[in-house]
Amino acid sequence: MELQEVKFEGWPHVLKAQQFDSGWIKNILFPLAIRMEGLYGHRLCGALLLDKEMISLFCGESTRTRASFEIAMHRLGGKVIVSSPNARLSSAMGKGEHFYDTCLALIEYGGDVLIIRNDGNEELGKLAVLSSIPIINAADNAEKDKQHPTQALLDLYTIQRRLGRIDGISVAMIGDLRNGRTVRSLSYLLAKFKGIRIFFVSPLQLQIGADIKEYLTRHGVEFSEHLDVREVAPHADVFYQTRTQKNLGTEDWDRADEAHGLTIIDKRVLDLAKLDSIIMHPLPCVGEIVREEVDPDPRAIYIESKNGKPSQVKCGLFIRMALLLIVISPEVCCSLLRTD
Ligand code: NCD
Repeated sequence: MELQEVKFEGWPHVLKAQQFDSGWIKNILFPLAIRMEGLYGHRLCGALLLDKEMISLFCGESTRTRASFEIAMHRLGGKVIVSSPNARLSSAMGKGEHFYDTCLALIEYGGDVLIIRNDGNEELGKLAVLSSIPIINAADNAEKDKQHPTQALLDLYTIQRRLGRIDGISVAMIGDLRNGRTVRSLSYLLAKFKGIRIFFVSPLQLQIGADIKEYLTRHGVEFSEHLDVREVAPHADVFYQTRTQKNLGTEDWDRADEAHGLTIIDKRVLDLAKLDSIIMHPLPCVGEIVREEVDPDPRAIYIESKNGKPSQVKCGLFIRMALLLIVISPEVCCSLLRTD
């Protein structure tokens, strides 16, 4: 597949995980991310997006997504010309300006890409049709279909780097599946691959949405729902743990908390898990992994790079470098892929 042939719905905006296909992921995104791993810190890397400009608007808490996009842009030689963390309070939105007006004004200044995290309910798709520059969704809270597409892409890349495959894997997604946007985006993406099996593990009141189940059924993905992670532990290749989304509206916090004993990853789960499985988490982790028991295990790859392979956090940096290159400078990507 050639980069010029990419004609996804919404492209060159990155809005939803459903946009992508497995060919683009395997033949363009992953090879570019691998190139980024090799070039990272090399002089050539700092010339790839020289003088290109990124605007970063974060409405909602973020550590890794914001930092990795901004670091990625700097390491590629580009500039971050506006960086607004905590934008609902620190920008004119704090005076009552509509989210779209704030975004459109920033776009009006120029720049080559706009990275947006939006914890409000406004649809980024509506903004994208008005935008003269690519918009990358760094997590949204849209009422019908909240998404975190770049997280799902980096999650898949982490799986590929660790297991060497995506087709045919079994994934246990655990935690607040009703409100978590990372599990939604990852489910959509996994459905693009062959032979996927998903175990959804959550307290009853935090089960995955009916829309995702319907999507998976339509795409022939086998899935089942469980209350206790130990039931599925011997069968999973990937454990994808998530926190309870208090800031995104989990009002059943106390009941969920009680049920957490069944959805926690600790030594008992490790003892049942396959030796070649991996434990992932989009982070932040706030108690759902017993860290002192799980962190030292070679299967725990969320923060720490182990055995010469990048952690999930580090994979995020390489995937976001690759994504910035693809949307800002497809011609540079073509020459990088050709010299592979
Ligand atoms: C996720 C998010 O914001 O949805 N965080 C992230 O970007 N890595 C997951 C979470 O907050 O639980």
